[in-house]
Amino acid sequence: MVSDTTIREKKLQKIIELEKVLSQIQDTDVLLERILTEARAIVHADAGSIYVHEDGMIKIRYAQNETQRRRLAPGQKLPFNFFSFRVDEKSMCGYSVLTGKIVNVPDAYEIDGLPFVFNKQSDMLTGYRTKSVLTVPLRTAAGKTLGVMQILNAEDEKGNIIEFDPDAELYIAHFASSATQALERANLTRSMVLRMVQMAEFRDPKETGSHVNRVANYAVEIYDHWAFKHNISIQESEKFRDTLKIAAMLHDVGKVAVSDVILKKPDKLTDEEYKIIQNHTLVGASLFDDLQSDLDLMSRDVALRHHERWDGKGYPGKVDLKSGKALETDPETGRPKGLHGDEIPLAARIVSLADVYDALSSKRSYKRSWTEDEVLREIQAQAGSQFDPELVMDFFEVLPNIRQIQLAWPD
Ligand SMILES: [Fe+2]
Ligand SMILES: [Fe+2]
Repeated sequence: MVSDTTIREKKLQKIIELEKVLSQIQDTDVLLERILTEARAIVHADAGSIYVHEDGMIKIRYAQNETQRRRLAPGQKLPFNFFSFRVDEKSMCGYSVLTGKIVNVPDAYEIDGLPFVFNKQSDMLTGYRTKSVLTVPLRTAAGKTLGVMQILNAEDEKGNIIEFDPDAELYIAHFASSATQALERANLTRSMVLRMVQMAEFRDPKETGSHVNRVANYAVEIYDHWAFKHNISIQESEKFRDTLKIAAMLHDVGKVAVSDVILKKPDKLTDEEYKIIQNHTLVGASLFDDLQSDLDLMSRDVALRHHERWDGKGYPGKVDLKSGKALETDPETGRPKGLHGDEIPLAARIVSLADVYDALSSKRSYKRSWTEDEVLREIQAQAGSQFDPELVMDFFEVLPNIRQIQLAWPD
């Protein structure tokens, strides 16, 4: 018979191995998803959420619920509700953040005598019944609490809901500490990327930080649907979306090199000025020139190719990346021949769609925002000419999620 100690050691060993997997994920959201998936698997839990702790508030950042997911069509995702509340000891999460303690509750509806209450609002909205709850603070080595992870409804082999036992507490405490380290590092990457994005934004008054966040999140949604249809393995799709998210945020980073006079010009641009603006694709690409990682490679693809069109009429087309000179010329226009269809890297085709959709939906100084109906008709009309028609189909499939993202990142 295998002893309990051996089982425990094996499980802890596995948790340590997971640390390495987590340390390779660069994007915060992708990481949160992985953390929650693994945490639930470790203790056989049906559902869970991760909250972040910022400016005295606790905000939900990510949630999973297996029972609710099973009710969806394959490939579909749970709609996500953003909510937040003040940190105080009266909520289970707030208590865990403030005291740094793990809170283990066998039944969330019967916690009389404890200093906090359980908020039933989410259960009331969804019809879900939360029973056992394990709430774990995500505390860094320096003592800063980044957030809390809440795991719900542990299950036995038969699927009956049971309470989290002391072993589960031990595993999750270990796992939470490596998860926190990985989160801290991903936050750092994110803030560096945002700084780069901001640098480009300072130049272009038409763009906002919300724009890049929306574009990145739309891109991931579209990709997820595409990957599901193409039976891309979980490992591969997770890696791709992780890189895509960051690369998408950097799509216009090449605008750092475009003169203010042109970017801020209120009137129509001359042909010459338009050409200079188009140059942001080449400048952006040159920032990732050394191609040291998959992220560099994809960031270069996206920066360089997000204005190519499916029908081959986009820019910069087939040019020498250093000089910008045409490698092949379109006999009709005399301009460099555009990349066409699948020649355009997938990530760039996705970002192009996400970027244009967002630009059309947003109000800009030179145009009113279009109604959703107008925008969607335009997107559909451009399937096969400006956009990859298959990706347009994916886009429409994930439209409910796209709308949620729009709400989560207002201008
Ligand atoms: Fe651009
Ligand atoms: Fe953009």
